[in-house]
Amino acid sequence: MTGSRIRPPAAALMMLVPAGCAELPATLVPRGGDAQAIADLFWIFLLVCALVWVLVVLGLLLALWRRRGAEETADPLAGHDRATRIAGRAVGIAVALTVVALVALTVLSYFTNRSIANVARDEHLKIRVTGHQWWWEVVYDDPKPERQVATANEIHVPVGEPVELELLASDVIHSFWVPSLAGKKDLIPGRQTSQTLEVHKAGIYRGQCAEFCGLQHAFMGLTVVAHERAEFDAWQAAQLKAAAPPADTLRQQGERVFQTKGCFLCHAVRGTTAAAKVAPDLTHVASRRTLAAGALPMTRGSLAAWIADPQAIKPGSKMPRVDLSPDELEAVVAYVEGLT
Ligand code: CUA
Repeated sequence: MTGSRIRPPAAALMMLVPAGCAELPATLVPRGGDAQAIADLFWIFLLVCALVWVLVVLGLLLALWRRRGAEETADPLAGHDRATRIAGRAVGIAVALTVVALVALTVLSYFTNRSIANVARDEHLKIRVTGHQWWWEVVYDDPKPERQVATANEIHVPVGEPVELELLASDVIHSFWVPSLAGKKDLIPGRQTSQTLEVHKAGIYRGQCAEFCGLQHAFMGLTVVAHERAEFDAWQAAQLKAAAPPADTLRQQGERVFQTKGCFLCHAVRGTTAAAKVAPDLTHVASRRTLAAGALPMTRGSLAAWIADPQAIKPGSKMPRVDLSPDELEAVVAYVEGLT
């Protein structure tokens, strides 16, 4: 199955979307196994219900038309035997069709749910995604600790392979939702759930926390990047590397600011003494597309604005404002920008 399997109504809808917005999350333009199953079910429900609605309205119009044409009789309760028989039969057929339609839709819904709930348990890539206020921790599990990769707010997956997501929450209930790829899944503190993600087409898919989780719920975005296998392996190999030590003096100064101004108390940069797990792992932060869970694009300007005053961008976020001189800010931005 490939992404070209867009349902005709969805294709028509896509024509209404401006070309630049092709990456909008779209439940009706599925690019993943679960999303495809949900979209198929949606179209079947829509078509069956639309057909029933049209038939009911036609029946109603017919009844009104016939009532108008009927002559006034002296006794309105005196029925015509033949007409009553036909009406009774029609009602019987309608009831039978309703029962058949309801049972068929229920069975269909059950099988769709079952296929979505079937989590791949074998040798697939396993990714642990933890919802925090207000960012996503992403850990690529591996039996060998040195092969574990941690990132944040960006999930890279190979195309065409089922990937098992282990979903957790650390503080409050969040909901993991990448509309083009699969349905929503609630993340409940103290409970582990899972979701199998199978992406059919390489690309970048936007996701969003779909359960109100506090002040910055709207800025709890994430990105799924689906690569061909070779490209994914290259990404993973790059992520496995420790951060390269800063070569120039500005970045060296920036590393010192990072180590003395408290950044290391929450963040980890593999290859340095910073190893805290409270906030996003920054080993390769500059390789990500966005900053602060999708709130800002990854640019030098965004980095400077975010580090200078996170509370101005995401009020209530756990990242505090740290007093830095302009020189210190410039240095630490250069250091973080070099963490590719
Ligand atoms: Cu997390 Cu809304």
